[in-house]
Amino acid sequence: MKKRITAMFFSGTDTTQKIVRGIAKELTELAELIELTELTDLDEMISFNEMDFTLPEAREQAVTYTKGDLVILGVPVIAGRVPNVLLKYLNTVRGQGALGIPVVVYGNRNYDDALIELKDIMEDNGFVVISAGAFVGEHSFSKELAQGRPDDRDMAVVREFTRRIYEKMNTDQSFPDLKVKGMKPYRPYYVAKDKQGNPFDFRKITPKTSSSCTDCKLCAELCPMGSIDFEDVSRIIGPCIKCCACVKKCPAEAKYFDDAGYLNHKQELEEACTLRREPELFS
Ligand SMILES: Cc1cc2nc3c(=O)[nH]c(=O)nc-3n(C[C@H](O)[C@H](O)[C@H](O)COP(=O)(O)O)c2cc1C
Repeated sequence: MKKRITAMFFSGTDTTQKIVRGIAKELTELAELIELTELTDLDEMISFNEMDFTLPEAREQAVTYTKGDLVILGVPVIAGRVPNVLLKYLNTVRGQGALGIPVVVYGNRNYDDALIELKDIMEDNGFVVISAGAFVGEHSFSKELAQGRPDDRDMAVVREFTRRIYEKMNTDQSFPDLKVKGMKPYRPYYVAKDKQGNPFDFRKITPKTSSSCTDCKLCAELCPMGSIDFEDVSRIIGPCIKCCACVKKCPAEAKYFDDAGYLNHKQELEEACTLRREPELFS
């Protein structure tokens, strides 16, 4: 296997990053180990790359892969689907025969049709999808739901997944159409409900800033939508996808959501989704 392996991901609170990097690094190490024991030419060995498209600037450049590439592409699940704010960008990523591994990471509720949608996007754009996986990460909204995941048990599954991918690449070069879980046509985006059970529109909700803010600007630097005003970090000047990067990464814990509907939904999820869900692999 002589491939350039790329970990490609969007990750507000780093759970997707951990899974995708884990797969790419394990795969690189596994391949290198085997190449070394077979005494092949070191120059022809595997190389490991990273394409982190979490920040808006990274999504400005078009990316093109070729047959020599293997791309592990990961996104978090948002409302049971691929984040709709990423669709335009994802459709600019060209596979041109590269091998692809779609990965979705979800907060222990459900990944619904996100994996099948990401697989379709990759195939429509020229990737040959050989394996796919749905993993669990701590829920963006919560510090309790799927707390600390991906954890050691998840990373053990990452290693198992990697082994299967490696074996498949070395035995099966035809790569027949991969079946993954999900429905077509895709179900509509999952809609949160308010206390009365009415559908509840999340889109306009934005984070607040408390007096503990030290104006370090980190939140403005790491907002994946570029929506926090650098001059006045309490001002939200663009769309907010509630990824909670600013909330979870603020060193002063100054960013928070206080919207009643949001807090109700968070509590409902924390109560309803306590049963541990395990990663699902398709290969
Ligand atoms: C707006 C929004 C919607 C989400 N929708 C779902 C969902 O439908 N199902 C689920 O299990 N998790 C959902 N999550 C949780 C994330 O998929 C999960 O926490 C993921 O690990 C976040 O990835 P990241 O750390 O790479 O940002 C949602 C998160 C956000 C911000």
